Amino acid sequence: MNSTGNIFELRKNLEPHKKAGKTIGLVPTMGNLHDGHMHLVRQSLEKNDYTVVSIFINPLQFNPNEDLETYPRTIKEDKEKLLACGCDFLFTPTTQDIYPETPYPHTQVKVPGLSDILCGLERPGHFEGVCTVVTKLLNIVSPDSAYFGLKDYQQYLIVKKMTKDLGIDTRIVGLEIIRDPNGLALSSRNNFLSDEEICKARQIYRSLKKAAERINHSGLKFQDIEKLAHQEIHDAGLTPEYFAICNSECLRSAAPEDPDLIILAAARIGSIRLIDNIRISLTSHKQLSSI
Ligand code: PAF
Repeated sequence: MNSTGNIFELRKNLEPHKKAGKTIGLVPTMGNLHDGHMHLVRQSLEKNDYTVVSIFINPLQFNPNEDLETYPRTIKEDKEKLLACGCDFLFTPTTQDIYPETPYPHTQVKVPGLSDILCGLERPGHFEGVCTVVTKLLNIVSPDSAYFGLKDYQQYLIVKKMTKDLGIDTRIVGLEIIRDPNGLALSSRNNFLSDEEICKARQIYRSLKKAAERINHSGLKFQDIEKLAHQEIHDAGLTPEYFAICNSECLRSAAPEDPDLIILAAARIGSIRLIDNIRISLTSHKQLSSI
């Protein structure tokens, strides 16, 4: 595996493969790779001639009160996992490589509307940070496809719209959520949870499934289903942020005639913020898993 933090070196190493007409897949990550990330990497390896994994903890997407300092950094273990699965290129830039203009304000990319709801309300500026770094990574690597996990569904939709709006010629691929055997969506932030907190955290997925069941079978209004789930999550000892049944294409509140829905939840356990979602199709009454 070729490993560099240098933008020009990475470009130089990719160039001959591009010239030879080979396809490149990019998996952007912030490291601390778990099975969810490795699923994206394996998919990219399968579908492309070469795969680049980037590891960069992007300060621009953290608010001042968030966990930038304590975000898990496990580069040695990450490298071992990537080597073992046959990843071709690892890109590990520093903040100086990505934002050499610091401390001067950096150009930012914003997708209005979609960035201002749900997680965007709780984390102002977060999606601008994501869009800015993803644009930069896409410009550096120029991949044919880039792979994102659907746990961050709002991020996936925003990045997809951003690439369309800006005419970036990369296919954005969303892959299904990987869960632990009890349904908890894998996340680097799970590392911060004690065993007891992990048990509590499982309520998020239980409530999502219950809400899907209620949508399909109870005849209750969406708003009432959201309220019930909010209460369940609260009663399990978590602090719910939002629990929302939305149209899965644009994330506006779902209307009864919408065929494809997504139920999204965010909740905190202490200071740890977790998100999860379930998509359902009302036409086939099926829970969907990948795009
Ligand atoms: O999903 C993430 O890990 C990050 O938001 C991403 C896409 C790597 C951008 O920093």
